[in-house]
Amino acid sequence: MRWYTKALLQKVLSLAPNSHLWNTKVKSLLGIHPDINRGLSQKLDQIVTHLANYREAAPHADLSQLSVFELGTGVFPIIPISLWLAGVKSVRSVDIVCLTDNKSIAKTVEAFATDLTLRDSFSGIFSEERVEGLLGIHAAIENGSDARAELRAIGLEFMKGDLVLSPELLSGIGMMVSNNVLEHIPENLIGDILETASAQMSSIAVMSHYIDLSDHYSHTDRDIGSLHFLRFSDRMWSLINNKLSYQNRLRATEYREYFGNSDWNVVKESCFRPEGTVIEQLKLDKRFQSYSPADVVITGMWIVANRSTTS
Ligand SMILES: C[S@@+](CC[C@H](N)C(=O)[O-])C[C@H]1O[C@@H](n2cnc3c(N)ncnc32)[C@H](O)[C@@H]1O
Repeated sequence: MRWYTKALLQKVLSLAPNSHLWNTKVKSLLGIHPDINRGLSQKLDQIVTHLANYREAAPHADLSQLSVFELGTGVFPIIPISLWLAGVKSVRSVDIVCLTDNKSIAKTVEAFATDLTLRDSFSGIFSEERVEGLLGIHAAIENGSDARAELRAIGLEFMKGDLVLSPELLSGIGMMVSNNVLEHIPENLIGDILETASAQMSSIAVMSHYIDLSDHYSHTDRDIGSLHFLRFSDRMWSLINNKLSYQNRLRATEYREYFGNSDWNVVKESCFRPEGTVIEQLKLDKRFQSYSPADVVITGMWIVANRSTTS
């Protein structure tokens, strides 16, 4: 589907009440169903990196005492289950909309219980004891047990919520992770999230975020480049953009600024740029022309931060 058709469909759907439900229904009518395997290998690499980031930022911390907060669960709780299998104490995963249900939880448990190649991606990372525990949970779900309740019993919670409005969601949390989420949060809320996190999280807490800075329409429309959306003015983009699949278009410099203005201290950053990008061919809107070319072309970014009070 061409990007503008998708954008138009999303715009129309986003105007309806319960737009996320309508979005799911329309996708289903179009034969597009949530697929746990879509982008799975990238996701698994990201989880391994989140864990490595934590170990690097907090080398003496005990994973078995760590409570993690995931910002933006999505449909399949792959990160929470992986982190639990790796040995963390608990994970609270919160999304602004509720996309995770018993079916998607059961599907994710099944994937980890039955797909040995998936588990191989975490060789040496998952605890044998936890894998055994998950196999038991899988069997219980197969026998009719409630998937959400089974995971709640081992310390994995999935809920709908807004971190800024409900800061208590961060109570007792030692690490915040997000995967492909910050780019969907309106610009004016990024600072609020960092501020809420610094007010609620301890002085030894760590954050690890993977941010996808590419035009998400380019993921399904191969006729446009990964930075296509930078050619539009803010005004034009506000007409194209929609709250169902909001894209803030923030560039790496701006994320650095948000972290720089917060109580969080960036301890590690790594960026990805598509090879062979010719800046002139991007036809950048003037808003983006003042950015350094090396910066504007960044399409993916890791940011790991701890509290500046400990640096
Ligand atoms: C692209 S999905 C990524 C989901 C998951 N992290 C993954 O890697 O599969 C982005 C998710 O972020 C959620 N989201 C957007 N704004 C949010 C916010 N302010 N707080 C929590 N979740 C948010 C969206 O609802 C969506 O489920």
